[in-house]
Order: sequence, then structure tokens, then C-alpha cells
Amino acid sequence: MPKEHPHIVIAIDGPAASGKSSVARTLARKLRYVYVNTGAMYRAVTWLALEKGVPPLDAGRVQQLLHFTEMECGVRDGESTILLDGVDPTPHLVSEAVNGNVSAIASIPDVRRLLVKKQRAYAFDYDVVMEGRDIGSAVFPETPYKFYIDASAEVRALRRARQGLQDSITSRDKQDSTRRASPLIIAEDAHVIDSSNLTVEGVTGEIFGRLKQKGLPLGEL
Ligand code: C5P
Repeated sequence: MPKEHPHIVIAIDGPAASGKSSVARTLARKLRYVYVNTGAMYRAVTWLALEKGVPPLDAGRVQQLLHFTEMECGVRDGESTILLDGVDPTPHLVSEAVNGNVSAIASIPDVRRLLVKKQRAYAFDYDVVMEGRDIGSAVFPETPYKFYIDASAEVRALRRARQGLQDSITSRDKQDSTRRASPLIIAEDAHVIDSSNLTVEGVTGEIFGRLKQKGLPLGEL
């Protein structure tokens, strides 16, 4: 880790509906680290653009919108929060409209630059479990604690359906993996876990084992 980030970062990346949110949240609670959901940050910007009538494919206008919006990223009850001009967009972040447009917004380099800065800022103040697509590969490439959680396409589609969410995960994954700016890739030194046949506890247990091996002090866990 660079000296300016003295805190511990556990990076959890993977495609949509791979189970990484439940795992990252559970891990953070057990370790008493802050859980940072970076997907929520890209979703929040997407919601803002849709709300303001800015086309998600118009990078210039999205950038301008962000320039004139105050974004506050904080922590509440051990989890990351976001306010846009004082408004908490959380209730709107998993709407069909946001699901359908977030990958376009996330492919805009200026959006990524701004959000990555906010993501790195968390590690100035807290030990974090941060989940996303590029945390191990681009946001904190120096952290030795990198995990990539995958699951078969069938299992992932089933998980989304069970959540009752309209989400074209195949098209999102394709856009996220093929974009030019920090695409979804498996970092070279990431530990890959296929969660298709594992419970959240099963995946978290495997991660704890790996963290222990790497010498992270875990106390009684
Ligand atoms: O994790 P979640 O599915 O909520 O992420 C929503 C979208 O945000 C992803 O499909 C991707 O386009 C974008 N994203 C990203 N980089 C991250 C986290 C999310 O590009 N670190």
C-alpha cells in the first residue's frame, strides 16, 4: 500500500449478482471494517443523470452535471453513504432504469476519476472492505488482499430473479468487461472464488482462511 493509505483494504470484485455484496458486508461486519459499496456510487450518479434528464451516453453533459453537484461520501453504521446535493438516492438505486443505464455512466472516464478519488479517500480514515469491479485492479492495486467472486451465469440470473429485480446482468457484464476505462478483469494476484455452490458463510470462511494465510491479524474470528 502507498504510505498515504495506511489502512487495510480488502478488495472484492466480480460480475453482477456473483454474491459479492452479501459477502463483503458480512466480512466487514465481522472484522469491524467499513463496508464500501462502489456500485452504489455509480448507481447514484446514474440516478442523478436520469433525474435531471441528462442522457447517460452524453459524457460531456454528465461531467458538467457532476461539476455542479455536491457529492458527499460518508459512513453510517459501518457502511458507505452518498448524498447528492443533500439528497440520499438509496431508495432508487436498484430501479430498472438505473440497472439499464449504469454501465454507460460507469464507462465515462471522468465519472470514474471522480469516484475513484472518493473511494481512495475512505482508506485515509478507515480499514475497509470495498466491493466493485476494479478495486483490486485499479483502485487499490497495491493491496495484498484481493478477491474475485464469480458464479455461473445460471446461478447469477437465478439470484437476481429471486430478489425480484429486473436486471439485464448479461448485457451489464458485457459492457463492464469490454469498456476501455478500468474494465472488469481478474487482477493477477486475486484469489478467485466460485460461489455457485457456496453459501455466504462458505465464501466468507474461504476468505478468512486466505487472509489468515496472508498474515492479516484476525483475532478470534
Ligand atoms: O455492483 P453493482 O452491480 O451495483 O454495480 C453497478 C454497476 O456499476 C456495474 O454494472 C458497473 O457498470 C459499475 N461499477 C463499476 N466499477 C465499480 C463498481 C461498479 O464500473 N467499481
